[in-house]
Amino acid sequence: MLGASRPPPPAAPHATRGFVIRLLTETPQDGPEVEYLYDLAFAPGRTALSSYRLREGVEPVASLCLVARDRYGTLAGAIRYWPIVIGAEAHPALLLGPVAVHPTRQGEGIGALLIAESLDRASLAGWTRVVLVGDEPYYRRFGFTRETARALEFPPPTNPDRLLARALAEGAFDGVAGMIAPWRELPQTGEAVSRT
Ligand SMILES: CC(C)(COP(=O)(O)OP(=O)(O)OC[C@H]1O[C@@H](n2cnc3c(N)ncnc32)[C@H](O)[C@@H]1OP(=O)(O)O)[C@@H](O)C(=O)NCCC(=O)NCCS
Repeated sequence: MLGASRPPPPAAPHATRGFVIRLLTETPQDGPEVEYLYDLAFAPGRTALSSYRLREGVEPVASLCLVARDRYGTLAGAIRYWPIVIGAEAHPALLLGPVAVHPTRQGEGIGALLIAESLDRASLAGWTRVVLVGDEPYYRRFGFTRETARALEFPPPTNPDRLLARALAEGAFDGVAGMIAPWRELPQTGEAVSRT
């Protein structure tokens, strides 16, 4: 897994509207529960979306995949990230998502916790670009805008109005344009492209 060699920061409990939530790096044991949560939170057929084609055969960025558990250990939310490349020059970036919060726990700030913590980790790890497909009215509060993604294209069928981006470093999207594609190895060296 990308980033698997980095030791995860210690889990810190957070209070969301009076409830204690602990954010933890996702482990393989969490996998089936996270998949079940995604099935619950998203419409049936979620894996038919073009974003899943970008994830096929590519490992998620392990250090950025988080689960939120309550004081009883029950899964309340989860977020995953995949590496992608943008345009002919294969600029590296992150694809945020899926992110979901259990229907009984939505509106408590758990989604915000997951997104804010994982973006902080991404920035610390040296990633500079993040894109996602989602509702701008929700993601704007985390710095994602349609404007930043204006020169980017997402594999169809995807509503371009839902393609959002955020730069984690000033000017990270300057001159970055074109189609978003699955992460790939550089053919000359066999090494993964660097993150900036
Ligand atoms: C979207 C989601 C992850 C947000 O998590 P959450 O823990 O419920 O959100 P938070 O508690 O951090 O934020 C709640 C606020 O976001 C708003 N919000 C939630 N989803 C929204 C959306 N799609 N568009 C606009 N605002 C939204 C709520 O109205 C609420 O607003 P308020 O703070 O003014 O009351 C969660 O609702 C969810 O899992 N939804 C189903 C799966 C999904 O759609 N995932 C995102 C795919 S892009």
